[in-house]
Parts: sequence; structure tokens; C-alpha cells
Amino acid sequence: MHLDFNNMMSDVIGPEHGITEQELKELESLSAKYAKDLKEERARGALPFLELPYDKGMVAEILEAAASFKGKFKNLVIVGIGGSALGNIAIHTALNHPFHNILDDKGRNNFPRIFVLDNVDPERFSGLMSILKPEDTLFNFITKSGTTVETISQFLIITKLLREKLGGRYKEHIVTTTDAEKGTLRAITNREGFKSFVIPSGVGGRYSVLTPVGLFSAAMSGVDIVRLLEGASFMNTACQSFDLWNNPALMSSALYFLSYAKKSKNILIMMPYSSQLSGAADWFCQLWAESLGKRLSLNKEVIHTGSTPVRAVGVVDQHSQLQLYMEGPYDKVVTFWAVKQFKNTFFVPDKDTIDKDISYLSGHSLNYIMSAEFEGTRLALAEQKRPNCTVLLEDISAFSLGKLFYFYELQTVYAGKFFNINTFDQPGVEAGKINALAMLGKSDYAERNKEISIKLQGTIKRYFI
Ligand code: PA5
Repeated sequence: MHLDFNNMMSDVIGPEHGITEQELKELESLSAKYAKDLKEERARGALPFLELPYDKGMVAEILEAAASFKGKFKNLVIVGIGGSALGNIAIHTALNHPFHNILDDKGRNNFPRIFVLDNVDPERFSGLMSILKPEDTLFNFITKSGTTVETISQFLIITKLLREKLGGRYKEHIVTTTDAEKGTLRAITNREGFKSFVIPSGVGGRYSVLTPVGLFSAAMSGVDIVRLLEGASFMNTACQSFDLWNNPALMSSALYFLSYAKKSKNILIMMPYSSQLSGAADWFCQLWAESLGKRLSLNKEVIHTGSTPVRAVGVVDQHSQLQLYMEGPYDKVVTFWAVKQFKNTFFVPDKDTIDKDISYLSGHSLNYIMSAEFEGTRLALAEQKRPNCTVLLEDISAFSLGKLFYFYELQTVYAGKFFNINTFDQPGVEAGKINALAMLGKSDYAERNKEISIKLQGTIKRYFI
């Protein structure tokens, strides 16, 4: 993996939007301090998600469970939301056949189809349940807190349905992934005796892709989870230096921070030139948004900070979003993910068989067209003085994806230090959850329920019917 940040720099895109070498130099000592702090935090066990690549026991447990389920189920349904779903989607989209779910059993090597229920949309829920046979389906309920409304409500509906259809055997169709001790799902799991995985304490939802949260469904669909973790471990080794110029995760966070703080770039476009990496870009967007979008600094000052991540997909969004990136406000940094080697190569047919006007395409592969479009776009952006950087991946493999996950987790932790906020909480999300719980009648929030009723009644109705 290769980070190219030339097009972020003032000598390429000019001093108004580009970062100067001097600005980076001025961050050197602060960066070194942050890297030392991080090392010290890791040594006292404060950042356990960074040690996941070395958890051999976890891997053995997941592989054993996946082997024991192999061939027994045609479908695996993951029920979770946010950090308890996006990592699964990222892995599945990147590493499984692009049309995995419509391959027959043989085409899938007898691995199950993978579905993710990460919403309470009744149409989607009902649509999926109407095409799955309970006897062929394993459900993996994932929730760190064990109480998330969206996940637990679907858990209750699905378990009732399974009980009705399968009687006492329904438990064999359930795996839970949750905290070791806390939360309702853990209590139910212990009581009912479901097969269960633990999300290690201190690993928050958006940092949990390399725990059983993401790894169980990966292993169930044949993804090489050992290679995923080896990729993460490789990236850990590559990002050890206290020197900004020798630590890509530290440099990447410093570049985003400077472009936000000094060049007013408050939108971060994440644009893989690969449909397979679209899920990983969504995963990144949650990681970045929930970690860095904060009202308070660590000193409790009101700062309302954070840059807004937006997922785009190359080439598709060249025909949708790019006009805005090229000519709209100077408020964006574009990050490209490019792939050096795709698994397949497809050539446009021979000159003789196509119209003269388009004969320039003949002999080119789709791979080369993709690459020309990417190169053309990043050059055009740079020529318009639009900052952009590129992460070049060797390929789309478990090893490369492991590197990518670890790189961005580490980079987000460093960014949190530059932004001087708590990277690991999400008070804004909690506030919305509390309102929903109050409206749903949870007794602990009875007071809030009354306040909400008064507010809703008092709201001036400005709408059309
Ligand atoms: O990153 C986070 O902490 C959140 O996005 C959570 O993953 C999300 O809110 C779901 O929470 P839980 O896993 O407790 O159901």
C-alpha cells in the first residue's frame, strides 16, 4: 500500500489550497508527541482494538465455529447496525464474488449467502424474511451494548418466528455477538444458551471490524481471516515511527487536519476506483464521522469540530458528483483508493469488429480504462487546485483489506489527537437513542417522554398536506 500526497501540497496546487512543507515541519514535534502518547496508551492496554491482529485465541474460536456450521446453512443473516454491520458489509463486498448471493451452492463453494439487516425498515425486513427458509438460515445478532433498539427489536421478531417454525431447535439457528457481561443480549444469551462470541471490552463498535463482529461472517463465507489480520499486523509495523515522514497513518491524519484547520477543507470525499471497495468507504465514513464530529474539545470548550466524510465511487460518480468537486466550493479534499492489480482483465474487442469512431477503445482493457479515468480525474482536480491524495492498493485481497482497515483506524485515532477531541465517544448518537427510547416507552426515560410530548404538541405546524 502506497500513500501519494503530492496533490495535497502547495508546490503542486498552490499555497491557497495546498499544504506547505513548512506547515508539516511545524507539526513534527506535536506528531512525535502523539505517536509517543499512543505507544504509551497501547502499553497500558487503553487501545485494545490495535492489538487485535495478535489475538490467536479469537481466530481459533471463530474458525472452529465457522467449520462447525459449514454446509449446514444456505443463508447467514447478520442483524446489527452502525459499527455492528458496516465492517461485515465492507468485507463481504470487497472479498466475496460480486454476485455471491445469486450463485448456486456449488458456485459459493457451499458457503452461505450473506445478508445484512441494518435497518428497521419493515419492507426490507419483510422482503428478506419472505425469501428465506428458517430451517436453512443462521442469524448472527451483533450488538456491543446488547440493547440497541433496531437490533433487539428484530431479534425479538426473528426468535419468535424461529421458535414457531423450528420448535426447540431454534437455538441452533442463532449466534450472538455482544459484550462479555453487560447488556440484555448477553443476559438472554446466557439464559438461552445460544452460541455466542464476545466483543472484547474497550473495543467500540466502529473499531470492531477485526473482532468476531466482522470476522465471523467473513469466515462463514470463506474469507481468509488469518490474512486479514496479517494485513492489519503489517500495517501496524509500518506505522510505528514517531517521525511524521516515516509513519503513513500519522502523516495522513496530519494532512487532513491541516487541510481542515488551515485551508478550510471541511468535506472529505472517499472515492475508491472499485465497486468492491464501496463498502469499505462506507465503513470509513462512519469511523471518521462518529469519531471526530464533536461539540466539545478535550478541555471541554465548545468547538463543533469535524470534517464531513462523503463516499463516492469511481468511475460511477465522475458522472454524478465530480462536477461539484471540480468547480464547486473549495471545501473538499478527495481521497482516491486505486487498485494496482484487479483479479480479472477484460479487453474491448478488436478494431475490425467495432465502429471507426470508437476504435480508439479497441485493445484496451476495462482495467486500463478504469486506471486512465482515475489518473485523468486526479490530474484534472489538481489542475483546478483541488487537494487530493491517493492510497494505492496492490490488489483487493484479505491482506490488503486488513491493511486498509488498520491504517484508517490508526489514522482516525491520530486525527482525534490533532482535533483534540474524544475519539471514542458518540454523545450525539446517544441523545437520539434516548429520545427514541423515551418515545418507545422505556420506563427509565419517562420524564423525557413527557418533555417530548409537550415539545411535539407545542410545535408550530408548518406543512402542506
Ligand atoms: O461505533 C459505534 O459505537 C456505533 O456506531 C455502534 O456500533 C452502533 O450504535 C450500534 O451499537 P451496538 O453495537 O451497541 O448495537
